[in-house]
Amino acid sequence: MSTTSFPGAAPHTVAIVTGGAGDIGRAIAARLARDHALVVLVDIDEAAGEQAARALGEAIRFIAADVTDPLSVAAMAREALALGPVRTLVNNAGAARAVSLHDTTPEIWRADNALNLEAAFLCFRALEESLAATRGSVVNIASVNGLGVYGHPAYSAAKAGLIHLTRLIAVEYGRLGIRANAVAPGTVRTQAWEARAQANPAVFEEAARWYPLGRVVDPADVAEAVGFLASPLARAITGTCLPVDCGLSAGQGELARTFSQSDHY
Ligand SMILES: NC(=O)c1ccc[n+]([C@@H]2O[C@H](COP(=O)([O-])OP(=O)(O)OC[C@H]3O[C@@H](n4cnc5c(N)ncnc54)[C@H](O)[C@@H]3O)[C@@H](O)[C@H]2O)c1
Repeated sequence: MSTTSFPGAAPHTVAIVTGGAGDIGRAIAARLARDHALVVLVDIDEAAGEQAARALGEAIRFIAADVTDPLSVAAMAREALALGPVRTLVNNAGAARAVSLHDTTPEIWRADNALNLEAAFLCFRALEESLAATRGSVVNIASVNGLGVYGHPAYSAAKAGLIHLTRLIAVEYGRLGIRANAVAPGTVRTQAWEARAQANPAVFEEAARWYPLGRVVDPADVAEAVGFLASPLARAITGTCLPVDCGLSAGQGELARTFSQSDHY
């Protein structure tokens, strides 16, 4: 069943995807273009943003903004609202820096929190009126790093905060009709892994052994989960965090095999 045929899908509305020039952002934009009139990519990288919007087609626009800067976010919100009522905000811009707490400087701590947590707060506050008017929803792109420790400490703490921000919005804004959910991807094959994939071309194959489904995540897997959570099919779902992680956060097969001494794991 197509989501556009579902009552309340309001296809004339706008979706905003921050970090929209990246691999996951572009996949999310392509998915949301199926049930929104326009999808706006917001990115700090103007060249990549323009190029992504052109490649994705007519229903995709680009607005340059730094989502960590309140003035830039306010200008982005004004420009986006001029295009139509915003029904969906996807806070997807994000990046990880240091690999261990020992390597984390105060600057890295603040920068990772600004991009992975505070930016979502800024974008939500700038768009909350339109989201209430459309009875829309927010989808925050968290990470399995927000559920457990896999390195990247400042990023991990910020993503845990983002999952909690999701609950804060859900509880306080539910009475206005706004829903808020998060998705927590495991390893996704994207350009963010380029340096690590160059240093170790087998990085995805090596990572896959820890994933119960025996593979890592594709950007389209994340996009379908976002599309569902943003759609009226999820109208009773708010305040949740949906792992899109090929089973990583469910448990460890190798450890289960050790404990149970069963080859069935
Ligand atoms: N790739 C993975 O393995 C993975 C796993 C779990 C979660 N995630 C999350 O998914 C989201 C997208 O990741 P990706 O892999 O597509 O990354 P990416 O690096 O491909 O894309 C991120 C985009 O955000 C933009 N951006 C960075 N700083 C910005 C700012 N201040 N203002 C506006 N835009 C800014 C970048 O220019 C880039 O286009 C991130 O939140 C990331 O934490 C990724």
